Amino acid sequence: MGGAGLGEHGVAGVAAKGREGWWDGLAGWGRPAMMADADERDRGSRRGVEREREEWVMDAAMARNGRNGAVGKKNDEQVADGRGADAHAATVEKYRRYVTTSFVAAIEPVVVARAEGATVWDANGREYVDCFAGIAVVNAGHRHPRVLAAAREQMERVVHAATYIYHVPVVADLAERLAEITPTGLDKTFFGNSGAEGIETAMRLAKAYTGRHEFITLTHAFHGRTAGTLSITGNKGRKTRGGPYLPGIAYAPAPYVYRNPFGTDDPETVAERCAEMVEWAVAYQSSGDVAAFIAEPVLGEGGILVPPASYFRRVKEVLDRHGILFIADEVQSGFGRTGALFAIEHFGVTPDIMVLAKGIADGFPLSATIARGEIADSLRPGEHLSTFGGNPVSCAAGLANIEVMVEERLPEEAARKGERTLGQLRELATRHELIGDVRGLGLMIGVELVTDRGTKEPASKEAAAVRRLCREAGVLVGVGGQAGNVVRFQPPLVIEDAALERAVEVLDGALAEVAGNEDGGRSSRVEAVAASQG
Ligand SMILES: Cc1ncc(COP(=O)(O)O)c(C=O)c1O
Repeated sequence: MGGAGLGEHGVAGVAAKGREGWWDGLAGWGRPAMMADADERDRGSRRGVEREREEWVMDAAMARNGRNGAVGKKNDEQVADGRGADAHAATVEKYRRYVTTSFVAAIEPVVVARAEGATVWDANGREYVDCFAGIAVVNAGHRHPRVLAAAREQMERVVHAATYIYHVPVVADLAERLAEITPTGLDKTFFGNSGAEGIETAMRLAKAYTGRHEFITLTHAFHGRTAGTLSITGNKGRKTRGGPYLPGIAYAPAPYVYRNPFGTDDPETVAERCAEMVEWAVAYQSSGDVAAFIAEPVLGEGGILVPPASYFRRVKEVLDRHGILFIADEVQSGFGRTGALFAIEHFGVTPDIMVLAKGIADGFPLSATIARGEIADSLRPGEHLSTFGGNPVSCAAGLANIEVMVEERLPEEAARKGERTLGQLRELATRHELIGDVRGLGLMIGVELVTDRGTKEPASKEAAAVRRLCREAGVLVGVGGQAGNVVRFQPPLVIEDAALERAVEVLDGALAEVAGNEDGGRSSRVEAVAASQG
């Protein structure tokens, strides 16, 4: 297995603003007196949430019985709030007619009616272990009571004010907090609404600060769906029919140990060669006018690619030689997911600009582009803004989310649970030929499927079938990778050990069924999935 776990990296965390054991320091930072009241409210609301959930699950079970007799009336109410067989059918039909979804492969949808922690319930009251967290977003768990309480409280004061025209206290508070918890030197934040908007801002800042216009990015990278972010995305599948893209983009190979053009499976050799290729990109693909190098510290959509330990240090040496900025896209790898608050902390380098989104506010839309002060200040009046960026409700949720991360030690939890799960998945690899590689950091885990371990032919249909079988067995997983052959485990970090174990068991069964171990040949399920996806 070419993957690396947290332990295998063994790299000291990046210098983190004069703290030792960062969460200890953070937890001690002057909690305002009003926090005590908030805690009291949270405890109350947690009890309320539990009660509500029990009632809801009972109602959903009743709804499954149909719309006759006494249950019928109940069912109408349930349809109105998204529960019951009719609500399922109505939602699917309305999506078909009114929601643009032609870009989603034809899969049977889960109609999500409710979610909490690491559990999702569909409209029929069916329970799922959520191992995808809404694409790695609800790191603190669905509907964390403290996050909800903070958002509700903010909604009572102001929902929108145009954060850049006027000043809102909670926006200032979150920016201050981000400056405290991110690597040394990153001090000023621009708030946007999505990861892509955050990356666009980072590109804009890099150009404004350096006066240069070119970028170096990685193959297998994913940075968003806008024209600028697709231009630096190294995945043809995401880019087809969207061009022409920005000029001045150079690609270096992703540090993908399991598949690389250098004929080695030694992580350090891959790191060395890939860093050399960054120098090569500057020399042969650029005009010497490179503003920034951009990379995900752990590549997510590209198939959960964990760079070897020395990779970013080697790349940083190249960048420093040429005065090129380093933009770390922590949109997917940030907020505790990899066992550190930010994944770049595993690699011992400090970026010049860091982009955060997804896990930043436990599901409320928000992004943060945080940079060194002099870089942040390089934009001139009129050059940038966002109407909704830094929405006060999202910022309140973001502040509470950080408190939860710190106090519940979620990065530590991710590290512990990730190590354990990686071990269990590696054990599966000894029994399932379909598994070519198991890799990950914390709870950002990929299981790469291949039809042949020798040729490493991607098992894309099989991965889709595994996802479907897992869903049918009550476990939601993701699929990624250039060829769509990597099963992704990225659950909320609060997931319970037993739920994670169940997910691994279900994957075990799904792999057996897909491989045809149980019916003596390639499972008809694989063919069914292939047919449904055209
Ligand atoms: C690493 C990375 N960057 C950027 C984005 C874009 O984020 P958004 O979908 O919020 O625009 C994503 C989304 O998956 C991502 O994984």
